[in-house]
Amino acid sequence: DWIMSDFAQEQIQLLKEKIGDKKVLVGLSGGVDSSVAAVLIHKAVGKQLTCIFVDHGLLRKNEGDEVEKTFGEEFDMNIIRVNCKDRFLEKLAGVSDPETKRKIIGEEFIRVFEAEAKKLGTVDYLAQGTIYPDVIESGTKNAAVIKSHHNVGGLPEHVDFKEIVEPLRDLFKDEVREVGRAIGIPEFLVSRQPFPGPGLAIRIIGDITEEKLEILRDADYIFREEVAKAGLQDEIWQYFAVLTNLRSVGVMGDERTYSYTIALRGVTSVDGMTADWARIPYDVMERMSNRIVNEVHNVNRIVYDITSKPPATIEWE
Ligand code: XMP
Repeated sequence: DWIMSDFAQEQIQLLKEKIGDKKVLVGLSGGVDSSVAAVLIHKAVGKQLTCIFVDHGLLRKNEGDEVEKTFGEEFDMNIIRVNCKDRFLEKLAGVSDPETKRKIIGEEFIRVFEAEAKKLGTVDYLAQGTIYPDVIESGTKNAAVIKSHHNVGGLPEHVDFKEIVEPLRDLFKDEVREVGRAIGIPEFLVSRQPFPGPGLAIRIIGDITEEKLEILRDADYIFREEVAKAGLQDEIWQYFAVLTNLRSVGVMGDERTYSYTIALRGVTSVDGMTADWARIPYDVMERMSNRIVNEVHNVNRIVYDITSKPPATIEWE
């Protein structure tokens, strides 16, 4: 797309002029917006940009490694991956309430980010992947602040910086994706489905443990693999597994089992505000169900969520 590739070239030039020889900091989540913002800035000022990637251990299977590899190795960017799974799991131990989970994760996230930023001393610029809908949503100039509460991470209060840089402020999501493609970000990142900041924490109903995270990750991975094999990834807005807090009786070989129920959720949507459940073909569903039950330990039942939003929401928590 020539328009977006022109936009990219122009932004890179503007960022070069604006930033000069100063230092920039960005919080990288692996999501589309922060990725595109970071790569644009990297193209403009290279190693003057430092990316902090707070890995809270609530990402999907392999995701943390993919982010590190793509940006750290392929793009050769300065990236600091902070592995703080244990710290998050400790804070979340025994917590079942969804809003409490969000609050704990959001606060902890900012705390980790700030501690890392502090080690870098004063930075001149803090970059954010704010896009146009974020700006309108809030109706204020403080869009970034409001969004950062909704999206985990974002604007820390205790980081020393002089100015905010938001190169994607005028773009809609599909334009951000085009810019991403134009500057060579791999397709799996550019076309990535929305993923909530609190991650898998809000896809495990009830309290979170390492075992549950592993079950959910494996089930979710199989779901995504089968969606990809069936070529359905562009038709479905979001698709993911949920680990319900429910166990039920099943039979495997001659053995009675008493294991978890996994719920699969696939929705079509334009903007996430309303959604309909995705009509995934039965044969694809059958393969998903068989594979998950056979390949994932401690799961013996699969259900598919057939509610729209409203009255349900996309996520279960
Ligand atoms: P719901 O579940 O409200 O989700 O229908 C609408 C969209 O928002 C995402 N979502 C979140 N994103 N932090 C986020 O950054 C959150 O706490 C959060 N909760 C839901 C959800 O994945 C969907 O795309």
